[in-house]
Amino acid sequence: MEQHRCSCSCGASCCTGGGRQPRSLSARGTKALLPFSPYIQAMNEAKSFAWSPTNPHGYFLMATAESVLSFDLIHDKIRSCREIPPTAGLYSNFRGGQALRNALAKMMQRTFMGVEIDPSHICISSGVTAVLDLFFFATCDPGDGCLIPAPYFPAFDNDMNIRNEVAPLPVQPKDTHTYIPTVAEMDAAVDEAAKRNVRARVLLITNPGNPLGTLYPEATLKELLLWAVRREMHVLSDEIYANSKFGTSEDEFVSLEKVAQNAVEEKLLSPEMVAEFVHTAYGMSKDFGMNGFRVGCLHTKNGDLLNLWQNMGMFAAVSNDTQHALAVMLQDDTFVDFYVEENKRRLKNSYNLLTSAFTSVKLNYMPACAAMFCWLDLRSLLTECTFEAERALWKEILEDCKVLLTPGEACHYAEPGFFRVCYASMPPEHLQVACTRLTSFVEKKRRKRKLSSA
Ligand SMILES: Cc1ncc(COP(=O)(O)O)c(C=O)c1O
Repeated sequence: MEQHRCSCSCGASCCTGGGRQPRSLSARGTKALLPFSPYIQAMNEAKSFAWSPTNPHGYFLMATAESVLSFDLIHDKIRSCREIPPTAGLYSNFRGGQALRNALAKMMQRTFMGVEIDPSHICISSGVTAVLDLFFFATCDPGDGCLIPAPYFPAFDNDMNIRNEVAPLPVQPKDTHTYIPTVAEMDAAVDEAAKRNVRARVLLITNPGNPLGTLYPEATLKELLLWAVRREMHVLSDEIYANSKFGTSEDEFVSLEKVAQNAVEEKLLSPEMVAEFVHTAYGMSKDFGMNGFRVGCLHTKNGDLLNLWQNMGMFAAVSNDTQHALAVMLQDDTFVDFYVEENKRRLKNSYNLLTSAFTSVKLNYMPACAAMFCWLDLRSLLTECTFEAERALWKEILEDCKVLLTPGEACHYAEPGFFRVCYASMPPEHLQVACTRLTSFVEKKRRKRKLSSA
């Protein structure tokens, strides 16, 4: 697929899909035709010929952050919560109806945020994707930039750039053991962007991380928070995997809201600065396996943002019907607690299955404790240390092994040879087959290499 640089100020790389200029679309419409990553096309093709017990030559899709592991529990529960309230046919508050805002605030406060959440600080939209789109619309001008520690979730580029022309500014951590960025690296990224006339206006953190499945230590969050807010830079913490910490780790999950509250109590930041610049995103797609329901929210105390959502929220509102069913489900604390624990148990089981397979063929990976990813190190299989070689290996895994992975290049990681593996998009019995394919591929490749070097 042909690659070129975007003509806007974003600096992102895009795919022309053949370079044809559609006559009937605007310049921005034309830009929106471009898939944000070349692997999206492969994903659509693989999806149409997916592996199943009755299609044993099909593909395994391990490049999508979806979980099927606990949907049986959600399915039964949501059916029991679905009824059509008499007001469902009317417009409702475009920042989200009161019942779902109450239920989300209570669930988030109880299960992961650790601070009191006022439902009037919650804005609901159709998924975190829509939340990010509106957030960038509201806080940035075209040509502004957003700092993001790399590697990061590939679709962030689209979320900030496709409508709002905000430039992603990947920050490459030098510490490749923890991948934790330092403020010196942040400073360097800000200076680098400034040389291109790009003003870094937002710092976007994902905790737990995609694609690493790890947590930020509280001390790092505090350091980054103080660094950004004192510069009057917005900090947005995407905590969409906050209820998916399944493994043991040195660090506990700590929400940015809690870190900010502590900073106010320690008089390191004023409550006004925190209200203006600190925000958290959460959604139902990941921890609850409800990608298709399209529900996400922003927690913010910024009055202007809250007012803006009241107006702009209409473009990506969630249907009253879905809001009602979710509110009923989330108000049931006993169900939520049981579900979250059971889902973590299932995530852990699948993660262990995958990593045992990798260990059995001596493949290195970054140990994860949360979310639904494994960051796999396949540098030893590259023919040379280049992204061209990474692309060739990705293609070989897709064609020979019929497994679709996310290449590290798409996650904006600077060193070639790493791949994100999504392991929750299939039940454990299917994952077992995918693992056998991957490990056989690795062994075959090593044997071939040995023969050719003999
Ligand atoms: C870190 C992160 N943020 C946001 C999203 C998008 O979620 P949603 O389905 O709520 O739009 C994803 C999906 O993979 C994600 O991994």
